[in-house]
Amino acid sequence: MGRNILVLNGSPRMNGNTAALVEQFTKGAEQAGHRVVRYDLQRMQIHPCLGCCQGGKDPQSPCVQKDDMLKIYPDYREADLVVLASPLYYWTVSGQLKCAFDRLFAVAECNADYENPKKESVLLMAAEGSGFEESLYWYDRLMDHLGWTDRGKVLCGGVFHAGDIRGNSKLEDAYQLGLRI
Ligand SMILES: Cc1cc2nc3c(=O)[nH]c(=O)nc-3n(C[C@H](O)[C@H](O)[C@H](O)COP(=O)(O)O)c2cc1C
Repeated sequence: MGRNILVLNGSPRMNGNTAALVEQFTKGAEQAGHRVVRYDLQRMQIHPCLGCCQGGKDPQSPCVQKDDMLKIYPDYREADLVVLASPLYYWTVSGQLKCAFDRLFAVAECNADYENPKKESVLLMAAEGSGFEESLYWYDRLMDHLGWTDRGKVLCGGVFHAGDIRGNSKLEDAYQLGLRI
């Protein structure tokens, strides 16, 4: 049965290397019969979390800030699997992705003890170098703390300029990961 997949693309380059991984993953997942909803966070108005802890009162609109996160929340609720896609920026994920992810806290606020909805997840990343260790540490800890299940990672190093990823075997890896989700 097809599953609901939410892609949070934290790369600001729509024609970039992360986007290429997202496209290949999506191609595979759709071929496998899943529904993929993608948000390019750079194109959206998403403000940083205020840390007010006043959200969670209305499940349809859980955050006190009424910005483009309102588009994401319903798909986040429905998602069986969340794809975290980002370029490596200073050895971690981009601000765009972190900013949106922090705002998902408002959904946990709707639940007793701030319980997070249980999801599966995939990590897609691109970088000039190959220093993914810190991001992997963050992602793996995140999975543990949220009680989420990692379904796979595709990390493509050695790509700097948009399009450098063309012909890279990691694109096939992303496609295959999508196919077997
Ligand atoms: C602000 C910024 C920080 C970056 N930090 C790193 C880094 O810490 N390590 C690295 O290997 N590449 C780093 N890069 C290079 C990007 O990860 C690389 O260009 C990647 O391919 C960008 O993905 P995109 O095409 O999806 O934008 C950085 C680039 C920028 C613009």
